[in-house]
Amino acid sequence: MNGLASTRWKSEQAHGHWLGLIDQAILAAETAELELSRQGGSDPSQQRKASGSYYTPADVAGHFWDLFFRHHRICDLNSLLTFISSTELVEPSAGSGMFVFSFLKKAALLGATPESLANLRFHVVDINLAALRFFSENLREIERALGVGFDGIGPDQSDFLEWVNTSAFTNVVFVGNPPFVANPRGARWRNLYADFVEAMLSYRGIKGVSLIVPLSVCFSRDYADLRAAVRTAGMGISASSYDNIPDYLFKAGKPDSTNTNRANSQRCTILNLGGPDPMLREASPLLSWLTAERPTLLSTVPTFRPFSNDDPSGQIPRPASDALADYMHDASDARPFRTFLSKIGKPVFSVGGVARNYIGIRDYEAAGAGCIPIKTHSEEERGLVLQILSSKLFYDYWRTYGDGFHVTVDLIERFPVTDTLARRLESNVNLARQVWACRGSFAKEKLNSGRVIRSYDFRAAFEKA
Ligand SMILES: C[S@@+](CC[C@H](N)C(=O)[O-])C[C@H]1O[C@@H](n2cnc3c(N)ncnc32)[C@H](O)[C@@H]1O
Repeated sequence: MNGLASTRWKSEQAHGHWLGLIDQAILAAETAELELSRQGGSDPSQQRKASGSYYTPADVAGHFWDLFFRHHRICDLNSLLTFISSTELVEPSAGSGMFVFSFLKKAALLGATPESLANLRFHVVDINLAALRFFSENLREIERALGVGFDGIGPDQSDFLEWVNTSAFTNVVFVGNPPFVANPRGARWRNLYADFVEAMLSYRGIKGVSLIVPLSVCFSRDYADLRAAVRTAGMGISASSYDNIPDYLFKAGKPDSTNTNRANSQRCTILNLGGPDPMLREASPLLSWLTAERPTLLSTVPTFRPFSNDDPSGQIPRPASDALADYMHDASDARPFRTFLSKIGKPVFSVGGVARNYIGIRDYEAAGAGCIPIKTHSEEERGLVLQILSSKLFYDYWRTYGDGFHVTVDLIERFPVTDTLARRLESNVNLARQVWACRGSFAKEKLNSGRVIRSYDFRAAFEKA
């Protein structure tokens, strides 16, 4: 081996060693999560739930950083070092430090050596001293093994909501997975994560926010004001959202019988605010995947589609298709669906109150929970309304703006019907009449609490119309 080859070999060995040490720290952080999450409170069995200590699995943290690097356009060692030299990273609720170690891994994979990260400034805040001690010990192991010091990575035992009021850094990017904990009645927000986000947005030296938060941040009325604050913060917005069926992001805690909180199967959104383009508005569909598809899902950038800052829903949509995103783009002057409906008369059919793969249309039987009666002024309008509710476009609209489960009156009534769409469907009213007349051939039945529920799946009927 000549001198050059020998130097390269040594440097590859050193890089492999550095990556191996980080992997060990990641594994340790993931393994310790259950034990650590119970420490720090007076009653260990309640501590986990009370502090929202559901730590992030390593594969999810890796995915988080992939999206973060993409958002900040960090694509090589140079851009990484430039970013680091002008940023204070702050983890408000660091737990065992998964985000710090997985950041180091992402940086190492871009070619960063421990020495090149000497300027990295990472404030590692948590209220739980045991978790921070564990984190510091793991970091020290790496430092000892490599003979380097990460002096800018500083653990800080604090309540984050106090930390924001007592620190004054500039160019701060907040990262991580804040606690999801129900707040007491009468609190400003229903859930503590929203207090964290609001505190970050109000921080004077803010440059960005990248968090894993509950999906409710995208659509719930409870967080409409929080979304308004996000939209007006003058930062680019990128959001990817994750369902909890059949697989879910947070696998931790499942075997633990004390876990009455569904945080482990939460539907989540990875929200990235900031980055070089303050006008950016992009979001993924609500992603769902089989367990076997998890590695692919978490190593792939989801399909992001643009959305409008003035989206009338006030939501962060989850655009389900290009067709729907394009349609919404041209729908500002459209008539709301409600103007095609009548308030009086006998319902012509009803719509199932929950959906999964299609919007179920039912014969109207009686008023009651679980279905939405639809009334129209004429048979022509019935044909038009039937086509809209059975269309792929409306299904995608529901996937984009709904909670992924319920079909609500509000959602139906707000659907914008453009003139072009109305004209096209009006020319199909004869087809709609025929389809309705032989609806039995589209029937699907399922048992619900001992009752047979029959609904019509008209997707195929109007597919080509
Ligand atoms: C969802 S865990 C996240 C841990 C880690 N970031 C991860 O994803 O693996 C939430 C963490 O928030 C911490 N925590 C709860 N309330 C806090 C507060 N007011 N200030 C700082 N940390 C808090 C808990 O101790 C816990 O470690």
